[in-house]
Amino acid sequence: MALLLILLFSLLFNNISDISGFSSQPGICYGQLGNNLPTPSKSIPLIKSLNTKRIKLYDTNPQILTSLKNTNLQVSIMLPNELITNISANQTLSDQWIKSNVVPFYPQTLIRYLLVGNEIISSTPNTTWPHLVPAMRRIKHSLKKLRIKKIKVGTSSAMDVLETSFPPSNAAFRKDIAVRVIKPMLRFLNRTKSFFFLDVYPFFPWSSDPVNINLDYALFRGDNVNFTVTDPGSGLVYTNLFDQMVDSVYFAMEKLGFPDIRIFIAETGWPNGGDIDQIGANVFNAATYNRNFVKKVMRKPVVGTPARPGSILPSFLFALFNENQKPGPGTERHFGLLYPNGSKVYEIDLSGETPESEFPVLPPPENNEAYKGKIWCVAARGSNTTALGEALSYACSQGNRTCDLVRPGRECFKPESVFWHASYAFSSYWAQFKKIGGTCYFNGLATQTAKDPSYGSCKFPSVTL
Ligand SMILES: *[C@@H]1O[C@H](CO)[C@@H](O)[C@H](O)[C@H]1NC(C)=O
Ligand SMILES: *[C@@H]1O[C@H](CO)[C@@H](O)[C@H](O)[C@H]1NC(C)=O
Ligand SMILES: *[C@@H]1O[C@H](CO)[C@@H](O)[C@H](O)[C@H]1NC(C)=O
Ligand SMILES: *[C@@H]1O[C@H](CO)[C@@H](O)[C@H](O)[C@H]1NC(C)=O
Ligand SMILES: *[C@@H]1O[C@H](CO)[C@@H](O)[C@H](O)[C@H]1NC(C)=O
Ligand SMILES: *[C@@H]1O[C@H](CO)[C@@H](O)[C@H](O)[C@H]1NC(C)=O
Ligand SMILES: *[C@@H]1O[C@H](CO)[C@@H](O)[C@H](O)[C@H]1NC(C)=O
Ligand SMILES: *[C@@H]1O[C@H](CO)[C@@H](O)[C@H](O)[C@H]1NC(C)=O
Repeated sequence: MALLLILLFSLLFNNISDISGFSSQPGICYGQLGNNLPTPSKSIPLIKSLNTKRIKLYDTNPQILTSLKNTNLQVSIMLPNELITNISANQTLSDQWIKSNVVPFYPQTLIRYLLVGNEIISSTPNTTWPHLVPAMRRIKHSLKKLRIKKIKVGTSSAMDVLETSFPPSNAAFRKDIAVRVIKPMLRFLNRTKSFFFLDVYPFFPWSSDPVNINLDYALFRGDNVNFTVTDPGSGLVYTNLFDQMVDSVYFAMEKLGFPDIRIFIAETGWPNGGDIDQIGANVFNAATYNRNFVKKVMRKPVVGTPARPGSILPSFLFALFNENQKPGPGTERHFGLLYPNGSKVYEIDLSGETPESEFPVLPPPENNEAYKGKIWCVAARGSNTTALGEALSYACSQGNRTCDLVRPGRECFKPESVFWHASYAFSSYWAQFKKIGGTCYFNGLATQTAKDPSYGSCKFPSVTL
C-alpha cells in the first residue's frame, strides 16, 4: 500500500513537473572550448548516457541542434554577446536571428530556454548593458510573432551582480545596475514568467577565503560537522554555502519589488583539477560537490532553500567536458564530468538515487590546504614550437630584464632551444607579474611546476607561495 502511494505520488509529481515545464533533475552545460573534444554526434550519446534530460549550449550550433532533433532532451540555447546591441535596436534583425537559429530546429528539437548573452553584466566594457533588456524584449517579441510559446527568454548572471551578499537578508544588487538594468530585467522576467538564470559556484568564495569559510559547508557536508551559518537579519539557518548564495539573490530581487521570480541555476559545479597555486580543485571535492548537489535538488519532498522552502530549483551542472581552451587559471579547464576521450572523471548519478557507498572509492583530496613553497612556470610538453616562439618574444618584451639570461653567452642560452628559452622566459615573466595578476597560461603553452627546472649555472626565477 505504502509502495503504491509512493508510486502514485511520484507519477503525480512527475506529471506536475512536466506541466510546469521543468523537473528538478540537473541538466548539463555542453561547452565546446576544446580542440580535443568528440564531435557533436559522438557527444550526444555521451550526454544521454549520463541520463540527463536537459542540455545547455553556449551558441546555436546547427549541427548540434540538428542532432538533438527527436531526442527527448530539452535544450537551452544562447544568443552571442556580440549581437545584443544590434538586436536591441532592430526588430527585423531579431526576427531574422530567430528565423535562422530557432525555426529550422523547433519544435523537433525541444528548445525551451533562450539566454540572451552570457554574464553580460559581469563583462567589461559596460557599453552593452543598456541594450540587454531591450534585446530580450525584441527576441521575445519575435518568438511571439511566430507563436512559439514554449521558449523562456532570459540571460545568465554571475554572483558579481550583487554588491553585498552577506548575510543573505542584507543582499543587494550593485548600484550601477540595480535600477538601470536589473529592475527592467526583473519586470520582463515577471511579465513573461521566465527565470532569473544564475551561475553559482561556492568554489570561488571558498577558495578565496578557505580560512574563514568551512570546506564542508561549501561541499554540502555541513551536517557532518554540525556547521551552520545563521543569518541574523532573517533568522534563517544555512547548512551550505550554495543555499546562502542563492538566497542572497532572492533577497536582492525582493528588495527591488520582485519576490516571486524563480531562480534557474544556469551553471554550478566544482573543478576536478587546477594549478599548483589553486586550492581545493580535485576529483574528490568535485565528485562530492556535484553528487551532493544532485541529492539536494532531487530530494522529495522538494527542499528548496531556507528563503524559498519547497521551491524546485531547476539547474545545469557545469560542464560536460574538461575544456582545454578555456582561458584563465587551470580550474577553468577542469570542470568536466567527462574527459575529452569520453570517460568519466568520477561516477555520478543524476537521479541522486545511488548511495555514496555504492560509488567506487574516490582518490583522497591532496590540495585542500594551500600549497606552500616555490613554483615555476615552464613551457608545456608537446607545445607548438611556432606558437612557443611567439610567446617567448611576448614574455621577453614584458617586465624588466626578463630574458637577460637567455641572451647569447649568458647562463641560460644553452641549450639553444625554443622550449628551454620559453620556459625560462615564462618563469621570469611570472615571477615579476604574479603579484599584479599575471598568469602562467600563455594560451595553454605554459604550465606550473613545483620541480625546480634550473640547471648548471642557469637559475630560474620562482614564485614563492
Ligand atoms: C552591427 O551593426 C553595424 C551597423 O549596421 C554593423 O556594422 C556591425 O557589423 C554589426 N555588428 C555585428 C556584430 O553584427
Ligand atoms: C535592421 O536589420 C536588417 C536585417 O539585418 C537590416 O537589413 C536593416 O538595415 C537594419 N536596420 C537598421 C536601421 O540598421
Ligand atoms: C559605464 O562606465 C562609465 C565609467 O565608469 C560610466 O560613466 C557609465 O555611466 C557606465 N555606463 C553604464 C551604462 O553603466
Ligand atoms: C552534531 O550534533 C548532534 C546533536 O547535538 C550530536 O549528537 C552529534 O554528535 C554532532 N556531530 C558532530 C560530528 O559533532
Ligand atoms: C509578478 O509580480 C506580481 C506582483 O508582485 C506577482 O503577483 C506575480 O506572482 C509575479 N509573477 C512572477 C512569475 O514572478
Ligand atoms: C581518458 O583520459 C583520461 C585523462 O587523460 C585517462 O586517465 C583515461 O585513462 C582515458 N581513458 C581512456 C579509455 O582512454
Ligand atoms: C602552430 O602555431 C602557429 C602560430 O600560432 C599556427 O599558425 C599554426 O597553425 C600552429 N600549428 C599547429 C599544428 O597547430
Ligand atoms: C620594472 O622596473 C621599474 C623601475 O624600477 C618598476 O617601477 C616596475 O614596477 C618594474 N616592473 C616590474 C614588472 O616589476
